Amino acid sequence: MKTIFSGIQPSGILTLGNYLGALQQFAKLQNDYECYFCIVDEHAITVPQDRLKLRHNIRSLAALYIASGIDPEKSALFIQSEVPAHTQLGWMMQSISYMGELERMTQFKDKSAGKNAVSSALLTYPDLMAADILLYGTDLVPVGEDQTQHLELTRNLAQRFNNKFNDIFTIPTASIPKVGARIMSLQEPTKKMSKSDENDKAFISMLDEPKKIEKKIKSAVTDSEGVVKFDKENKPGVSNLLTIQSVCTGESIEMLESKYAGSGYGDFKQGVAEAVISVLQPIQAKYAELIDSPELDDILDRGAEKAAKKANKMLAKAKKAMGLGRVRK
Ligand code: AMP
Ligand code: TRP
Repeated sequence: MKTIFSGIQPSGILTLGNYLGALQQFAKLQNDYECYFCIVDEHAITVPQDRLKLRHNIRSLAALYIASGIDPEKSALFIQSEVPAHTQLGWMMQSISYMGELERMTQFKDKSAGKNAVSSALLTYPDLMAADILLYGTDLVPVGEDQTQHLELTRNLAQRFNNKFNDIFTIPTASIPKVGARIMSLQEPTKKMSKSDENDKAFISMLDEPKKIEKKIKSAVTDSEGVVKFDKENKPGVSNLLTIQSVCTGESIEMLESKYAGSGYGDFKQGVAEAVISVLQPIQAKYAELIDSPELDDILDRGAEKAAKKANKMLAKAKKAMGLGRVRK
């Protein structure tokens, strides 16, 4: 059976973009793959975090994974900092990556631009991400479009390691969902919907109440044409809403275009809101059951144990290949 690894940062409440671009895909994949789903808290601290908020976000993310359909009997769900092999291999990856290639990463450039206190971990973030993936002999990494550059670097580092030391790492492939790969901001539809957006109206949180969802979608930026048609270039707002409705209901964009032909944006937005609410409501109910339950702790304990078992084997191989530690006499 092939292996899947993916991680999400606990850096805020997840958005509809995270759900459609990541979580929803994960739940589908776990029947056909050995899956490792990770809450990458060590990635989150590459930028300043409030400790209590971070704690809350870690647990909240764990509950959202399960509420979105991750089955702990099938997949390992765990917290990155509870499996030390990640930072250990991450350090080793730092020793084979080059400053130049790290400085070229778009995410690094974006997150460091204009800041005067940029952590060194923000630069070496992709080394840790490569370690996350390579520890599990991962074949497939389901991620959103924005992560393809990091994936490409992971592949390069794996190949570099294999050539230099020993052929131990599987070269992973990114798996990008076709529709809904990039859900855009409701307020600036040429920008990705992000949980770290300062404008609360720009994103739908997975935990927003139905009324709030409706309000946010009704105030989503569109255009003055009044025609429901997919045209990313000229109608980014409408195209984004069409994408959202399509992935939420399973109806094709073409079907939706003809459904709303002749009606204005009011009806259309109502339809989008209903579609989003019907997807998020059952998830929110399950989340409420889980968030304060000891069951969630048991799931995370078991996940970390399963992950560490596999990760430690690969870590031992990597140490041996690099000549770290010693051989018993
Ligand atoms: P992040 O929130 O940046 O940590 O991303 C977590 C996962 O969700 C990654 O696989 C992202 O690529 C995906 N993701 C985040 N925002 C979006 C979005 N607006 N549309 C689609 N996928 C997204
Ligand atoms: N960098 C990813 C993001 O910001 C999160 C991440 C960390 C990840 N490690 C990973 C994703 C390993 C996939 C595989 O979205």
